Amino acid sequence: MSTITLEKVKTIKTLNHIAQSALIANDALGLDMDVIGFDPFISVDTAWNLSRNVQRAMTIEQLFAESDFITVHVPLTDDTREMFNETAFSMMKPGVHILNFSRGELINEEDMAAALNSGKVGKYITDFPNENVLKMNNAISIPHLGASTTESEENCAIMAARQLKEFLETGNIKHSVNFPNAFLPYTGKQRLAAFHHNVPNMVGQITSAISDDHLNIADMVNRSRGDYAYTLIDIDSEVNKKLVPGLEEKIKQIAGIITVRVI
Ligand SMILES: NC(=O)c1ccc[n+]([C@@H]2O[C@H](COP(=O)([O-])OP(=O)(O)OC[C@H]3O[C@@H](n4cnc5c(N)ncnc54)[C@H](O)[C@@H]3O)[C@@H](O)[C@H]2O)c1
Repeated sequence: MSTITLEKVKTIKTLNHIAQSALIANDALGLDMDVIGFDPFISVDTAWNLSRNVQRAMTIEQLFAESDFITVHVPLTDDTREMFNETAFSMMKPGVHILNFSRGELINEEDMAAALNSGKVGKYITDFPNENVLKMNNAISIPHLGASTTESEENCAIMAARQLKEFLETGNIKHSVNFPNAFLPYTGKQRLAAFHHNVPNMVGQITSAISDDHLNIADMVNRSRGDYAYTLIDIDSEVNKKLVPGLEEKIKQIAGIITVRVI
């Protein structure tokens, strides 16, 4: 486990989430490979971090037809489930090598076994071994180590420290296991963070308590997850930059409120 310095967290603060595909495409260029990529939903952050030397495939069929090595980095969705199947293999170059560090279910295993036997697919490297894959010829199985490299462990630790820092400093939540994601750009205004049961009229009661004290709400976000909800409210209290005494207490008294924090 690597140690994380606050400086490192600060410097990393600017980095947003970049799809693995971009990091791998850039690294493959570093290995002197010609790289072609297909990602119809690429995020701005990922696009910004993708080398302009990566060729863009306009269709997945183009990518299949032109590649000697295919590495897949898509989420498992209804659209991507078993996207590597007989039809896909028929469009590929004979002897193509396929790397799957994403999800095992992206592959139709029966079709993959047949393609490996015929030599259509030269090698299948996967991070998701199972009974079927272990029986396949020319398949290399890795025990789900994709996220177990020193770099990824350090990145995960940095991400966790960064998100905790963000929560403590702004109340914003990202990737929590039990809270909803909630993001409200932090502008330095007085902020109230309330965690409460996900029942009707909670937001109404909180905002009434605030307006009863003649305070103006500058911005707010409310997100829920199952039985719980989370509300962030920025108060426009230029007057004294301090919440009216007792407001926090008043909100804490509302039935259904679990915690209230003033930032
Ligand atoms: N092996 C491991 O240990 C390990 C570790 C981390 C992530 N993963 C898996 O790797 C995959 C990628 O992770 P990530 O963090 O880069 O995810 P991500 O969400 O950041 O990136 C996924 C990319 O796939 C693109 N995409 C979505 N649907 C597509 C489609 N139909 N065709 C082409 N592109 C499509 C999106 O636009 C996005 O850029 C995920 O399946 C994730 O579960 C595996």
